[in-house]
Amino acid sequence: MLVSATEMLQKAVEGHYAVGQFNINNLEWTKAILATAQECNSPVILGVSEGAGKYMGGYDVVMGIVNGLIKDQNITVPVSVHLDHGSYDHCYKCMEAGFPSVMFDGSKYSIEENIEKTKELVAAAHAKGISIEAEVGSIGGEEDGVVGMGECADPAECKQIADLGVDFLAAGIGNIHGKYPENWKGLQFDVLASVQEKTGTLPLVLHGGTGIPDDMIKKAISLGVAKINVNTECQLVFAEATRKYIEAGKDLEGKGFDPRKLLAPGVEAIKAKVKEKMELFGSVGKA
Ligand code: 13P
Repeated sequence: MLVSATEMLQKAVEGHYAVGQFNINNLEWTKAILATAQECNSPVILGVSEGAGKYMGGYDVVMGIVNGLIKDQNITVPVSVHLDHGSYDHCYKCMEAGFPSVMFDGSKYSIEENIEKTKELVAAAHAKGISIEAEVGSIGGEEDGVVGMGECADPAECKQIADLGVDFLAAGIGNIHGKYPENWKGLQFDVLASVQEKTGTLPLVLHGGTGIPDDMIKKAISLGVAKINVNTECQLVFAEATRKYIEAGKDLEGKGFDPRKLLAPGVEAIKAKVKEKMELFGSVGKA
């Protein structure tokens, strides 16, 4: 069932668990994540970066794949499709294409400009029943060309953005996209606690889910994080499983070159990783 992400995340805050946003790249990714959500009876958010949307052929293609799978594979758990780190223009493009949720990443603007643009987009999204995430403080590292310095959010600015009516908020707390460096200082829980103090029960979003230790994930959830984004980890396990298949020469045996066989180990690896994360986040059985 295709839904906006608002209700599922409000329920997650109340129930002290988090819903995973797993980024998609193609049919295999989308099918694997939806099948796992259904098997785990868990709500799920499919993240689509601007780069992934372009790669898949456009936002209409993304929605065509997701809507088709929901219908033909009988996916009854709540599913949202969410533009990840969207620019101002792409938020509008996705809303037109039927995305039930978008993120406006205004972290590169001054707080005044971030507020102005977020305010306008909140009104446009809500007029169509679409949920909207905003960002304060930048997520470090790089994802599909979006580069952030990793500044921690200012809790007072979080309150200003929260008051605009956003449905959930990404606050930088030392999190980074991609793998964490050896000398990473960890999540800044004092910042997260101050943000939660200012924003109350607004669902908070933790980006850069790959490689955050389990105990930090649980502590973040206890401080109001209700949505956790995971991208790189699914890419890593897919690549590893595919490499093993080819290195074992399986593509050269019989019809092992058939793409349905060649991509199968990677798909199974994504399913196992998504299930592991849903169990860790506590969203299993919460559909
Ligand atoms: P990772 O690639 O580090 O898992 O981060 C995903 C993310 O935050 C998507 O916005």
